Amino acid sequence: MKILAIESSCDETAAAVVEDGRKVLSSVIASQVKEHIVYGGVVPEIASRMHAQAVSGVVKKAMDDSGLSYTDLDAIAVTYAPGLIGALLVGVNFAKGLSYSTGLPLVPVHHLRSHIAANYITSPELEPPFLCLVVSGGHSHIVAVNDYTDFTIIGRTRDDAAGECMDKSARAMGLDYPGGLNLDRISKSGDPKAFKFPHPKVDGSEYDFSFSGLKTAVVNTIHNAKQKGIEVSIPDLGASCIETVTDCLVNNSVKAAESFGFSKICLAGGVSANSRLRERMTEVCNEKGWQLYMPHLSLCGDNAAMVGAQGYYEFIKGNVAPLDLNAYATMPIDK
Ligand code: KG4
Ligand code: ZN
Repeated sequence: MKILAIESSCDETAAAVVEDGRKVLSSVIASQVKEHIVYGGVVPEIASRMHAQAVSGVVKKAMDDSGLSYTDLDAIAVTYAPGLIGALLVGVNFAKGLSYSTGLPLVPVHHLRSHIAANYITSPELEPPFLCLVVSGGHSHIVAVNDYTDFTIIGRTRDDAAGECMDKSARAMGLDYPGGLNLDRISKSGDPKAFKFPHPKVDGSEYDFSFSGLKTAVVNTIHNAKQKGIEVSIPDLGASCIETVTDCLVNNSVKAAESFGFSKICLAGGVSANSRLRERMTEVCNEKGWQLYMPHLSLCGDNAAMVGAQGYYEFIKGNVAPLDLNAYATMPIDK
């Protein structure tokens, strides 16, 4: 079964053709990073306009690269939630137009579900059930993936997402957008023990996260040093910030895996590209004798191949949308 997938939830316009949820026949990503860099973050209005400019060419290239025509396809999958509403609407409306003109069924795909599905492409042997730590710019969840389309949220952030915390901390350190990636790069030479930051416990759930206090602590460290005329080592500060985020993510995931009896663990989302998180998760899973699955680095960030992977499982489950499908800025993964 061959699916054309379209993704436009944030600042990447992407299209891909995926066979049977695991085999990528083509994948095209047009990144808007250069447009947003001057503003230090994604500007939603610019993102929507750039998606509108790019989507037609990106989809055409994905089709051309696959060597297929629309009559060879079985469905069109599209990210419909969660994300920037104006950005999502571009992909959704384009997919609706294609569905109408080709007669192909339209499959709505949840963005975080697709991040998890990136693992099916990297590890073709992977099957649910497993535990997944989903960490992106907007979300930090510990999710039980009971089946391909059946999810239970075990833990979540009460405030900032892990990626948001790293992006804002990076910005305070004077690093360019995308902050998380640049923080990762610069922190490799830093001392992760140079600064002691709090590891907040969250009332009511031992699996939930809170990252806003860490972000504030990083900003305060920089301000205090400036006031005293002391120079802060950005690699040390960055490494300490990443170490604290990683501690929280890894510790809660281990607790959740032990409590709910999972020995198959996955990472997903943009932050799963973080080198320290990948290293620490690998160490812990080796110690515990657990199997760890991580998306290939090229599949951690937003892309459409992962939408085609999840779209396949949504489609065979009968999840087909009518042509009045809407986009949604927020949507729980377990709905
Ligand atoms: O999944 P994603 O591409 O977009 C959303 O769905 O949000 O995730 C983007 C997030 C950003 O916060 C970005 O800074 C972070 O992923 N990120 C990283 C790394 N690469 C991307 N964070 C830490 N280390 C990285 N190497
Ligand atoms: Zn994403």
